[in-house]
Amino acid sequence: MYDIENIRKGLFPDKYLLLALEYMSTGQLETPFPRFAPPRSMHKDGVSILMGTRQRNISFSRRRVMASAALHIQNLNKGFHTNGNVTHVLNRIGLTINENEFITFIGPSGCGKSTLLRIVAGLDQAYDGTVEINGKQVTGPSRDKGFIFQEHRLFPWLTVEENLAADYNLKDPKVRTKVSELIKTVRLTGFEKAYPKQLSGGMAQRVAIARALLRNPQVLLLDEPFGALDAFTRSHLQEVLLDVWRENQTTVLFVTHDIDEAVFLSNKVVVLDARPGTVKATFQIDLPYPRNRTNHSFQQYRLGILEALEAPRQTDNDWEI
Ligand SMILES: Nc1ncnc2c1ncn2[C@@H]1O[C@H](COP(=O)(O)OP(=O)(O)O)[C@@H](O)[C@H]1O
Ligand SMILES: [Mg+2]
Repeated sequence: MYDIENIRKGLFPDKYLLLALEYMSTGQLETPFPRFAPPRSMHKDGVSILMGTRQRNISFSRRRVMASAALHIQNLNKGFHTNGNVTHVLNRIGLTINENEFITFIGPSGCGKSTLLRIVAGLDQAYDGTVEINGKQVTGPSRDKGFIFQEHRLFPWLTVEENLAADYNLKDPKVRTKVSELIKTVRLTGFEKAYPKQLSGGMAQRVAIARALLRNPQVLLLDEPFGALDAFTRSHLQEVLLDVWRENQTTVLFVTHDIDEAVFLSNKVVVLDARPGTVKATFQIDLPYPRNRTNHSFQQYRLGILEALEAPRQTDNDWEI
């Protein structure tokens, strides 16, 4: 593939970080890539840095406010072709997600949650239908879409701060300032020089959150990010995520198996059904933040979502496998 060789050589332009993380998860990217060259020249609103053979202008806003995005998904269908057969995974998904909304997808294993997020991220472009971010069809990965996976996918040969700035130049003072701000946001001050193997699962996942935030994403995509963590760490990270969302004004698409987590975090919960993945029910969670899990209304939402998950599937005569 065209991209992996470039990443190995350290050519790391904007969209490649997500691809590098993909390759790492499949074991294709094992070797450390070379460190990036120092800044070449200064610009008025940013610093021009060398990215492999390319120069990029970057600038970070002084205000910690990101541009948020609206998403429009219409008639999205997705099938996988394996051994001559087609497995239909997503069937006519239609959703509108407003700017700065926190939306959670919940549904049985295999219903297509990860597939949906990967399509929105631009990691899978083989689909039918409309997937637009701020009115523009998604055509590939980019820096304005941050992805946090269930596993942290940190580069083992880079420290915490180097992982955050993997495709930026850490010697650039603006990058450095932003990195230390984010390390503080995710409560990891003091661990800047630690390597991933020296971190607990929860700490590593916080680095992954900070790494995604450094790129000022308009959309933050999280695929069961806390699924492998213990209950205490999980609830702590839920609070960190809510802080980050409040401070940074970004649209969040979150996937979980956990109803409690969905109600605790989201403005809207979308219940998906499997084989093929369809939208079964949508819940608007009208509770103020921070939310109280023992509250009666909180419990009512939980029950409603549980009932929707367990309800028998509506027959869909249009669909044939
Ligand atoms: N690359 C792939 N090739 C073939 N089938 C796939 C691929 N990725 C996912 N699938 C299938 O698509 C369905 C949905 O997968 P996924 O989106 O991972 O579900 P979820 O995240 O909801 O558990 C599953 O049946 C899975 O086996
Ligand atoms: Mg999944």
